[in-house]
Amino acid sequence: MEFVTASTAPESTSCDALVVGIFQDAGPTEGAAGRVDKALGGLLAASLAEERFDGKPAKTTVLHTHGRIPARRIITVGLGPKAGASLDTLRKGAAAAIARARELHAGHVAFPMIALPPHSAELITQARVEGIILGHYRFAKYKKPEDGEVTQVTLLVGNHEQAKHVEDGRARGLITGEATVFARDLVNEPPNQLFPERLAEIAHDIAKKANLKYMVFDPDALEALGMRAILAVGGGSANPPRLITLEYAPPRAKRTVALVGKGVCFDSGGINIKTSDLQWMKSDMAGGAAVIATMKALSALRIPVRVFGVVAAVENMLSGRAAKPGDIVRAMNGKTIEINNTDAEGRVILADALAYAVQQEPDEIVDLATLTGSAIVALGYHAAALMSNTAALADRLLRAAETAGERIWQLPLYEEFLEDMRSPIADLHNSGGRYGGAEKGAIFLREFVDGRPWAHLDIAPTAFLEHREGTGPYLQKGGTGFGVRTLLAYLSAGS
Ligand code: BES
Ligand code: MN
Ligand code: ZN
Repeated sequence: MEFVTASTAPESTSCDALVVGIFQDAGPTEGAAGRVDKALGGLLAASLAEERFDGKPAKTTVLHTHGRIPARRIITVGLGPKAGASLDTLRKGAAAAIARARELHAGHVAFPMIALPPHSAELITQARVEGIILGHYRFAKYKKPEDGEVTQVTLLVGNHEQAKHVEDGRARGLITGEATVFARDLVNEPPNQLFPERLAEIAHDIAKKANLKYMVFDPDALEALGMRAILAVGGGSANPPRLITLEYAPPRAKRTVALVGKGVCFDSGGINIKTSDLQWMKSDMAGGAAVIATMKALSALRIPVRVFGVVAAVENMLSGRAAKPGDIVRAMNGKTIEINNTDAEGRVILADALAYAVQQEPDEIVDLATLTGSAIVALGYHAAALMSNTAALADRLLRAAETAGERIWQLPLYEEFLEDMRSPIADLHNSGGRYGGAEKGAIFLREFVDGRPWAHLDIAPTAFLEHREGTGPYLQKGGTGFGVRTLLAYLSAGS
């Protein structure tokens, strides 16, 4: 899909479909809708009335223009009430419109600018471009190609002063949207295609294209570094583990952020084998995918922060070499872990990955992991769980998520949770019972950040949508790419 900007008026732009957004309380009187209606001699208003179009969010209708204006059709999309409309309202509206255009096999779609004070034309455009890319996304690699794809999108600029802001928003939206889609592709990839070694190759490829430093540690290198936790979890599989690092180091960076991702390419549960929903467990590397996808976008966005990405990639499998319930392993930072449940593998591999990240002396550490079913029990499929040892960092992530249109919700890290994670015979054990499972997983991770400002995003709720629940105009079933846009907004926001 190609994005261009143009300054023609909506009613004189030729395209296969012209998208007009309509707020519930305004109807087709304002903005592009008003102009188009006028050019069509009231036909738009009349046909919307006939269809009882009420402007409900993401609802669409189609009107053929039969040559009365250069656009072949008008797609109207509801935006709900104007009061309370947010950037995400526009993101969703754009996504719903592009999905409709795709159904109609409209190859060239034009989007007139929408005003939504107090948001800038740049942020509005970025959100809409994201909506267009994400709403158009399909994981079709293993299917016959479908026709009807939109190949060209024209963003119409309202006036001369707007042009530069729309252009900047287009550029940013393209980068953030494409990065999100890249994470989706990784998560949707089946586990026979995407195993630790392959994930490392992909990261290597990204590093070359995006000008990042890349390192990878195979089992011998992991052994040499004392990363017995990753080795224990990865040891059960015929596909050996990898620790992948990517570094973005722009000149004059004043701070370093470490991003750490759980990259479990398949989580069978190990010897504590899972009994259900195994076919979704290819998505247990979504945290790692979000980290790699975020790193991919940093140089294009010219983010002025040094970012160090770490992904622990393993398969959690069963075999004669698999970790056994009761095993005790020593992580890189010297702490011992009793593996009392092999299905709580994410925290075990992150123990080493976080300890490794600490060696880079980051000012802040953010980890992303599909860590617990408990987070899904708490939040449904609607928000990721955030836990942090630093309130200011948590607040910045919450704000970034708001701009990005991703939902995160903070859970507490009471010290009492740590009591349940202490083992009688090792420093920690990896499973501390069912209740407060997300918090207990998080407080376990906190033991490996050496007191540095750190935030943990348990993205199990939002990384992969198994059912219709949680889906929306730009969120289809399957991988969502959750976290990429929030991280990019957080890294763009300075300190
Ligand atoms: N990868 C799972 C968590 C998960 C569950 C992600 C469902 C997405 C959907 C994780 O490794 C796991 O199995 N966690 C256990 C931890 C427990 C054994 C302490 C869980 O949440 O049940
Ligand atoms: Mn597990
Ligand atoms: Zn897992």
